[in-house]
Amino acid sequence: MAQPPPGVDEPVMPLARRHPLLAAAVIQIVALLGAPALLAGLRAVFPLDVSVGGAADPAPSLSLPLLIATALAQAAIAAGLTRLAGLPVWWIWIGGGFPVAIWLTLLTAGTLPAWPFGLAFLLLYLVFSNTARERVPLYLTNRATAEALTTLMRERGLVSALDLGSGLGDVVRALHGEGRTARGVETAPFAFALSWLLSRLTGRGSIARVSLWETDLGTTDLVYAFLSPEPMPALFAKARAEMKPGSLFVSNSFAVPEVEPDEVWELQDRRGTRLYLYGMGGGQGSDDASLNAANLPA
Ligand SMILES: C[S@@+](CC[C@H](N)C(=O)[O-])C[C@H]1O[C@@H](n2cnc3c(N)ncnc32)[C@H](O)[C@@H]1O
Repeated sequence: MAQPPPGVDEPVMPLARRHPLLAAAVIQIVALLGAPALLAGLRAVFPLDVSVGGAADPAPSLSLPLLIATALAQAAIAAGLTRLAGLPVWWIWIGGGFPVAIWLTLLTAGTLPAWPFGLAFLLLYLVFSNTARERVPLYLTNRATAEALTTLMRERGLVSALDLGSGLGDVVRALHGEGRTARGVETAPFAFALSWLLSRLTGRGSIARVSLWETDLGTTDLVYAFLSPEPMPALFAKARAEMKPGSLFVSNSFAVPEVEPDEVWELQDRRGTRLYLYGMGGGQGSDDASLNAANLPA
């Protein structure tokens, strides 16, 4: 079976992958304890001048350069351990960014207004609320992939499409038209509101604020998902139970574990997108029917 992008769904430590919040918390504690120890060790080997403004610092452990070095060491340890634990790439950014954010907050305490942080948190929640709950962040299907999906629907005579977790609605708007209908379901508030509005304004497709788990897949010719490794087994079980014979389940980048896809479309776009195609009950596709990548949109 073709493999998904490296480092995405090949957990080094399955336990950490199953409990990423817990793993992230443990990693932060290890980094918090490890950074001063690491710096103390380094200073023992390479004595550093931690004086501020040229004057000898009477309390070097509290000097600004040392605090910055500690924060950076902590961030590096946290990011490295997150990578070693096999967590998805966005956790590495979170793991590395968290200590820096905490140190910045401590160093600037009382000097900055609080509301920008509250606003930033609200915006992040509105856009990425599914990241922690569903382990599916927001990233978007590119144009080459949307064109490949359009080609697929045209070639197979598929007339209805459903994007599960439709993000900003680009796929829905791209697939709708020429006799095809497309709809999406999205629960993140900002993504839903914007994509709903864009669909209304352009007259292309429709978006509903419904969880993909509560969406009936039984009436659609092509169901598309660009999610993460996490929901794939349960989602495929749902697709198998509900989708009609002859319909097609397509996953962008994330293969269903232990299920052989009927076809894999390898696009010639920059990220080397792979579309995993699973025919539902009606004999769609075959093992040797993979399209020639040269015929697909670049
Ligand atoms: C990787 S993005 C893909 C967006 C879009 N399909 C595209 O390809 O451009 C995944 C989206 O799924 C949404 N999502 C995650 N869990 C969901 C759920 N249970 N129900 C509906 N949407 C969900 C996320 O909010 C996010 O917008």
